[in-house]
Amino acid sequence: MSGPNTDYDPVEVDALKPEEVDAARDAALAAIAAAPDLDALKQVRIDHTGDRSALALANREIGALPPQARKEAGQRVGQARGAVSKALAQRQTVLEAEHEERMLVEETVDVTLPTDRVPAGARHPLTTGSELIADIFVAMGWEVAEGPVIEAEWLNFDALNLGPDHPARTMQDTFWTDPADNAMVLRTHTSPVQARTMLTRTPPIYVVCPGRVFRTDEYDATHSPVFHQVEGLAIDEGISMAHLKGTLDHFAAAMFGEGITTRFRPSFFPFTEPSAEVDLVCFVCRGARQVDGVECRTCRGEGWIEWGGCGVVNPRVLRACGVDSDRYSGFAFGMGIDRTLMFRHAIADLRDLFEGDVRFTTAFGSEL
Ligand code: PHE
Repeated sequence: MSGPNTDYDPVEVDALKPEEVDAARDAALAAIAAAPDLDALKQVRIDHTGDRSALALANREIGALPPQARKEAGQRVGQARGAVSKALAQRQTVLEAEHEERMLVEETVDVTLPTDRVPAGARHPLTTGSELIADIFVAMGWEVAEGPVIEAEWLNFDALNLGPDHPARTMQDTFWTDPADNAMVLRTHTSPVQARTMLTRTPPIYVVCPGRVFRTDEYDATHSPVFHQVEGLAIDEGISMAHLKGTLDHFAAAMFGEGITTRFRPSFFPFTEPSAEVDLVCFVCRGARQVDGVECRTCRGEGWIEWGGCGVVNPRVLRACGVDSDRYSGFAFGMGIDRTLMFRHAIADLRDLFEGDVRFTTAFGSEL
């Protein structure tokens, strides 16, 4: 601040020259108009109205003028400051409105977007499929039996009349466990559950056993070293092949629809006599071998699809498992659950059932 201006000379105080005040005001107004956002405007306010601004400086210099000159200078500076603070307030209002507008657009919430709730997932088709099969039999009064997947060699083979020289006992098909003299295998079929059931119960026996089985197969579109079978066993007085046929026809219709029946082809299993391969009427062409004049692709024009094995329980097996073979007879059957589900849901690659991709599983929903 300059010293007291005793002989009036307004020119002496540079900061109060009209052109200086006008220039400071115009610079402030230009900066205000050019401020692109609220932050910039804040800086403009500090620069042009703060303690060190030209107008504040001029304001302070007023006191240094002789009294006669103060009024005019005070008016000029006051008007300039008033114009600046009015412009600041207006610009502030405009920028605030713009800011609000932008926030509304930028922070719009799209309520139609998927939420980030944890997906519920779905039960695996093998689980629901096994339950469906069990339900079909439970509805006929059967029970569900289970057994261990690491099984005694004796129950997996010997009890089922699979003598030590049977090819299925070679390393080719069977996963043996260490140490070898434990005589334990990963069960190669669900048939040892037949043996376990007969050993622990007295007839009549009607059990169905879905479960995991293991064979040293390559992993490809139709094979897997781990797969699933369902075994059925009925032991009662007077059981015959006819009961087996009726049961499987019912199972086929319940699984694949009314009119889907089965046929038997002669076969051999050490644990059944007679034995049969069981085929299903092709559920796509329904036995017609053709679809729209073209060979049915599902059954390759056969009209039938291989489903599993079955037969009348060999009396040697009954005796090995402590069942009176003079009084009782029985039937047994076994088929792949994976294969059954592949038919039922047109699954082209078996591996889809094992790779755990949740997108595959959820496609089945929570029911079957
Ligand atoms: N256990 C046989 C298999 O795995 C299937 C089968 C079961 C055949 C019961 C006859 C009776 O091939």
